[in-house]
Amino acid sequence: MVLRQSGVPATMTALPAAAQTPPTRGLHVITWGCQMNVYDSARMGDVLRPLGFRPVDTPDTADMIILNTCHIRDRAAEKVFSELGRLRLVKEARKTSGQSTIIAVAGCVAQAEGEEILARAPYVDIVLGPQTYHRLPEMVARAARAGGAVIETDFPAEQKFDFLPESEAPQTPGNLTAFLTIQEGCDKFCSFCVVPYTRGAENSRPVASVLAEAQRMVASGVRDISLLGQNVNAYHGVGPDGDIWGLARLAYALAEIPGLSRIRYTTSHPRDMDDALIAAHRDLPQLMPFLHLPVQSGSDRILRAMNRGHTADDYRDIVRRLRDVRPDLALSSDFIVGHPGETDEDFEATMQLVRDVGFALAYSFKYSPRPGTPAAGAGMQVAEDIKDARLQALQKLLREQQDAFNATLVGQTVPVLFTSKGRKPGQIAGRSPWLQPVHVSGPEHLIGQELPVRITERLSNSLGGILEEKKVYA
Ligand code: 5AD
Ligand code: SF4
Repeated sequence: MVLRQSGVPATMTALPAAAQTPPTRGLHVITWGCQMNVYDSARMGDVLRPLGFRPVDTPDTADMIILNTCHIRDRAAEKVFSELGRLRLVKEARKTSGQSTIIAVAGCVAQAEGEEILARAPYVDIVLGPQTYHRLPEMVARAARAGGAVIETDFPAEQKFDFLPESEAPQTPGNLTAFLTIQEGCDKFCSFCVVPYTRGAENSRPVASVLAEAQRMVASGVRDISLLGQNVNAYHGVGPDGDIWGLARLAYALAEIPGLSRIRYTTSHPRDMDDALIAAHRDLPQLMPFLHLPVQSGSDRILRAMNRGHTADDYRDIVRRLRDVRPDLALSSDFIVGHPGETDEDFEATMQLVRDVGFALAYSFKYSPRPGTPAAGAGMQVAEDIKDARLQALQKLLREQQDAFNATLVGQTVPVLFTSKGRKPGQIAGRSPWLQPVHVSGPEHLIGQELPVRITERLSNSLGGILEEKKVYA
C-alpha cells in the first residue's frame, strides 16, 4: 500500500510537543552528493531528534536508516538500488533478532524515481523528496501505523524552513565550519541538468531566519559559514524591512556578526554575479577570496545549447572585475565535456578559457544524459571515447593549474583557521582562505583560532607551514 500526502493540516507546527521523553532510537544517515545534501541530512537528524532518534555509526544498530541520494550524474538509480539491496539484508538480519528497521530514501533520486523505488524495493518504508523532510515525524508515525510505504515527493505549498526545528549542532565536527542553506531550487533549466526537476523552483529563505541561524551557529563556536544554494547568488529573500534582499546585502548583514570571520557561498551562476556582489567582495574582508563559479564550457555555441544565458567573454569579464576589486581572489569551476554537439573546436575553446582564466580548483565531468532533460533527447551525442579523451586533456590542464596555484602560496604568510588535530602527533590542521588543508606543528589549544602561517611546502593534497611568531603560540 502506498499512502500519499498532498497537504499539511493548517495546525501543523514543526513538531508535536513531546509529552514525555521518547525512547532513544538509532538513526543512520547515508549521504551522497552535494553539500546541500550534507546540510539536509543534518536537518533531518534535527527533525527526528524529538522522536528519540540519535545518530549511530553503522546501519545494523539503527532503528531507522536514511539514504540521502543524488541524481546529478551517472547511474544514480542503479547505485541506489544496489545500496538498498545491502540495507535490505541489514533489515532482515535485525528482524530475525526481533528488531524493526525503517528504511527511508530521500534526496533527488527519491524525488525523480519515487514510484520506481517502491516498486523495485518494497521493503523501503518511506520515500521523500528534498522539499518534504520537515514532515518526517509524521511519515514515520504513518509508516508505523499503516504498515505500508509512505511517499512524499510533491512540492508543498508551505516552505519546509518554516517548519524545521532549530538546528542543534553545526554539520561538521569541531563546530568551526558549517553549511547554511539560504536558497534552493533553480529556474534556469540548463539543458543537461536535473536540478530544476528534483529540487523545484528557486526559493529563498527570509533574511531574518538566515541571520538567526547564522547567529546560533556562531554562538556555538562556528567561525566559517558556507552559504548554500543551487543558485546561491540568485538569493532574493524577504528582509526585515519588507524589501527583497540580494546575496550582497545579506553578506553585509552577516559580516556584522561578531566572531564570524569567514563567509563563503556556493554554487553561483555567472548570470547572477551582479555589481553589488562584486562590490561586497571589495568591501568585506570576511567574504573569502575563493569563488566557485561554474562555467561548464568555453564555447559560445555550446553555452547557447546549454541554455546558460552568457558567453565565454561574459565569464572572462566577470572574473576580471572580481580580480580588479579583490586581486587575491581564486576561482573554482565545473566543466562538462561532450555535451551533445560539442566539436573538437568547441572543446578547444574550453581549453582556451581555462588557460585565460587560470583556476585554483575545478571539477570536470563527462556529459551524462539525465532522463527528462532537453539535452538527453538531443541529436549529436558525443561518443564515449571522445568524451574520455577530452576529459583527460582537460583534467591534465586543470591539475597543472591547481598545482601552480598551490605553488604560489609557498613562501607566503596566510591566515589559517585551525579546526582539528593533524595527521601526525604534535600537528594541528586547518584551512586557508582558499580551502586548502594546512598542517603545522603546534599545540592543540590553538584549535579554534585563526593564525598567520608561513607556507613552506606543497604536499599532494595539502600545504605544510609554520606558525608565524612561533614563540607566542608555544
Ligand atoms: N552530466 C555531466 N555533468 C553534469 N553536471 C550537472 N548535470 C550534469 C550532467 N547531466 C555537473 C555540472 C554542475 C555540477 C554540479 O555537475 O558541471 O555544475
Ligand atoms: Fe542545474 Fe543550470 Fe540550475 Fe545550475 S543553473 S542547478 S546547472 S539548471
